[in-house]
Amino acid sequence: MLVSAAEMLKKAKAGHYAVGQFNINNLEWTKAILLTAQELNSPVILGVSEGAGKYMTGYKTVVGMVNGMMEELNITVPVALHLDHGSYDHCYKCLEAGFSSIMFDGSHYPIEENVAKTKELVAAAHAKGVSIEAEVGSIGGEEDGVVGMGECADPNECKAVADLGVDFLAAGIGNIHGKYPENWKGLSFETLDAIQQLTGDLPLVLHGGTGIPADMIKKAISLGVAKINVNTECQLAFAAATREYIEAGKDQQGKGYDPRKLLAPGFEAIKATVKEKMELFGSVNKA
Ligand code: 13P
Repeated sequence: MLVSAAEMLKKAKAGHYAVGQFNINNLEWTKAILLTAQELNSPVILGVSEGAGKYMTGYKTVVGMVNGMMEELNITVPVALHLDHGSYDHCYKCLEAGFSSIMFDGSHYPIEENVAKTKELVAAAHAKGVSIEAEVGSIGGEEDGVVGMGECADPNECKAVADLGVDFLAAGIGNIHGKYPENWKGLSFETLDAIQQLTGDLPLVLHGGTGIPADMIKKAISLGVAKINVNTECQLAFAAATREYIEAGKDQQGKGYDPRKLLAPGFEAIKATVKEKMELFGSVNKA
């Protein structure tokens, strides 16, 4: 059964580790992430962007697929199904469809409007036992059409949003979706520390997990990050493994074109990426 992400992240923050949010795109992604979490006895959050939800034909399909897969694969570790960077309308759609967690990304609104909409959605989510993430400051780069300038969050605004009763908070600290540019200045630990001083026990979320060096990940966890989002890295691993299979001509040998064979190396590559991240984040055996 899907669970809210509130408890698992409270536990993570208190235990000084982070739970990975891995974004899903299709059946292979979902199966690879669920099986890896189960094998490593780790809690996990499946992230669904609005674009990926649409690609998978809609949120009801996603909920049906994940619930069915958890039952058929005997997944017993805590799993949350979470809307990633949701707009106001899509938060309601996911609450209706049976998601166990949502993110309202109101970071592009003036802070007063972000606060008002977040407050309303906190009540709607909690009425259904669903956890909710909010965002202050913006994550740089582009993810599925959501574009951010990457400005660092104002710690006082973070406090204002934290006080609304959100379960966890994404704050821009110089992180970027997608690959980091050569001249990236790194995470602003000064900002992160100032935010955690004001938000106390609230679990903080680090978006743009792809390509952040291990030492920065560890430092971010030590400063209150309890959820780390990874998307691009699984896509790159899947693409590289699939390319290698095709370039080696394996799709032309025997029935190598069978999608169950063609997609297998990419599937294994996602599993390896998720395993590496769960080990780095410290969530292994924390289910
Ligand atoms: P990356 O694609 O950079 O890993 O970011 C994922 C993310 O933050 C999802 O919201």
